[in-house]
Amino acid sequence: MAETAFFLSDYLGQQEFEGHISSEGCRAILSLASASVKIAALSRQNGLGEHLGAVLGGENADGDEQKALDVAADELIEEALRTASVAAYLSEEREGAVMLSDKGTLLVACDPLDGSSNIDTNLTVGTIFSLLPFDGSTLLMPGDMQIASGFFAYGPQTTLLLTVGNGVEAFCLDGTGDYRRMDWQVAIPRTTSEFAINASNSRHWQTAVSDYISDLLAGKTGPRGKNFNMRWAGSLVADAFRIFRRGGIFLYPSDQRDGYEQGRLRLVYEAHPIAFLVEQAGGVAYDGQIRILEITPDELHQRVPLIFGSSDEVDLLCKGA
Ligand code: AHG
Ligand code: MN
Ligand code: MN
Repeated sequence: MAETAFFLSDYLGQQEFEGHISSEGCRAILSLASASVKIAALSRQNGLGEHLGAVLGGENADGDEQKALDVAADELIEEALRTASVAAYLSEEREGAVMLSDKGTLLVACDPLDGSSNIDTNLTVGTIFSLLPFDGSTLLMPGDMQIASGFFAYGPQTTLLLTVGNGVEAFCLDGTGDYRRMDWQVAIPRTTSEFAINASNSRHWQTAVSDYISDLLAGKTGPRGKNFNMRWAGSLVADAFRIFRRGGIFLYPSDQRDGYEQGRLRLVYEAHPIAFLVEQAGGVAYDGQIRILEITPDELHQRVPLIFGSSDEVDLLCKGA
């Protein structure tokens, strides 16, 4: 029997009925989905009157130069969240929290456009989001407090990987502009022969990472006794999507470059949401020692080393398993 069409709104209604998420949470996710459809459409206009990779001259709080699509995506997300009962919007592209509704019960943290270095190269970029409870007292909390998280990937398909704490569901934008559930039981395989790391940084790595990667590169005749493959997309969402599909280990470790003592990726709107999804799909995510979801940020744009993926492989590096 053909898989009955099952749209994002149907899934969220079912999860709300089963008590996994509130109606406010559903509205926030649907508003993010509506913004993602606009971001996907805009990204397809690059070079056709739009110059989305253009550097606008500003910098975000992390010192990254802002590109046109970073800013456009950020504005589309803020506009969409104003239609939902969200208390505050925490964005990679904003210095501090953007207060939205004083009746809001949720925080939404976002990397509006992940993979900005790939904007003009027609490679997959995306939007990463995290939903957190807001009681008026704090904006910063451990990743285990997340209500939901996910990421949109703008590539050959426009997809959404989403968790509300009850496993991970995959959706794809169909011809009608709606997110339809994919026929894919999302689960990260426990073992892998594929790793993702920016190897151009190898001279800056800590010894533990250098030794680990050397063992992988030694292949069949080395200590691991098997050959490994390497992929590095330069977009966290693209590397993550591949790992959800076929397993792998992703590493953006701390390194000895100035400013990279805590790696490059940000805890609140990259590592926390990805780690929640990864654990819900049977994988693991650490900063090298500590489980990412146990870490409480000291400030909104704090960086964290991020190693995640197939549990046997990640534990071998991080837990000496
Ligand atoms: P962003 O574009 O939001 O700054 O994120 C880019 C991140 C992440 O997507 C990717 O894995 C990593 O930066 C790539 O870093 P390098 O360019 O140092 O390889
Ligand atoms: Mn990013
Ligand atoms: Mn970004």
